[in-house]
Amino acid sequence: EKGGYEHFMLKEIYEEPKAVRDTISPRLKDDDVVIEELGMTDEEIRSIRKIDIVACGSASHVGMTAKYVIESMARIPVEVDVASEFRYREPIYEDNMLVIIISQSGETADSLAALRDAKNHGVRTLGIVNVVGSSIAREADNVMYTWAGPEISVATTKAYSAQLAAMYLLSMKFAKVRGMLTDEEFAQLRSDLIQLPDQIESLFGMKEKIQKFANRYLAAGHMFFIGRGIDYAIAMEGSLKLKEISYIHSEAYAAGELKHGTISLIEDGTLVVAVATQEKLYPKTISNIVEVKTRGAFVMALTNLGHTDIEKNADYVIYIPKTSQYFTNSLAIIPLQLFGYYVSVGRGLDVDKPRNLAKSVTVE
Ligand code: F6R
Repeated sequence: EKGGYEHFMLKEIYEEPKAVRDTISPRLKDDDVVIEELGMTDEEIRSIRKIDIVACGSASHVGMTAKYVIESMARIPVEVDVASEFRYREPIYEDNMLVIIISQSGETADSLAALRDAKNHGVRTLGIVNVVGSSIAREADNVMYTWAGPEISVATTKAYSAQLAAMYLLSMKFAKVRGMLTDEEFAQLRSDLIQLPDQIESLFGMKEKIQKFANRYLAAGHMFFIGRGIDYAIAMEGSLKLKEISYIHSEAYAAGELKHGTISLIEDGTLVVAVATQEKLYPKTISNIVEVKTRGAFVMALTNLGHTDIEKNADYVIYIPKTSQYFTNSLAIIPLQLFGYYVSVGRGLDVDKPRNLAKSVTVE
């Protein structure tokens, strides 16, 4: 059932273009996003005052990305919490607030408890869920499914990508209804979104190159992932992928925070993965690359096609195709998933079933 692939994880990475396409195409019309499952009138969408996104693990990194996207595109304030914090922190529920729970399995205990808490306080809830008919899907007021299909590997890949796609659609819908996008801007986003699956597919061509690079780091003691804005969210997910399946310690840092402590950990040869896809933040991230280089780091940079100038400062560069600044996570995460995968393979570990982890965390 691995369809010729050595592991489910690699098979599921290869299924990402389809997962994204299937999540997007039923909802993206010529000049609108139609999400019937949302069950909200335009009036209700216009009246949203605040959004709280609640999730665990990788799904919370989708939430982090969505915060940047929704706040910038639709100008609605967004908070993001991991569910195990949200449910105990006495969140402030308000009128006209929307709580979004993101979950692949739909069974994560803390996410389900957070959903119930919001509902008990009379707040409208929306589930972004992959498993049809799961607890979160059944209990949320409304559910928007990600159409990634069954995900077997413990480390999420295609469900993560489908969740991102769902959040882009939601953000475009909110922005359009609230008058935050011109027709031209909407058309550009729509065309960028439609191209994403093919662009993801084109990145698979780097597989051998990434495997070779990964093989140089099989004995690494630790690594860092840095970035700003959406690139910080990408760094968080790249770091989690690596550590959960390779058992190599790594830390994701907001690039500007490095000099407030962590930079003391950089030694000769320490690998720093620097994500720099956000044009506005590019010069700032370059400064951080220079900072770590000066302390001896080996820098692998991920940036947009065309930024060859980065080769002056980074030791190894991966380019991603051009897309909207809002959507770069969907492309930049592919090489990072492959990197984690090949470090795990190279170390001879059980990629699909890493130690101490379960696919669905139904305990609190
Ligand atoms: C990491 C991973 C986990 C899940 C988290 C939430 O690769 O898979 O961090 O993202 O346990 O699970 P769901 O989405 O099922 O609620």
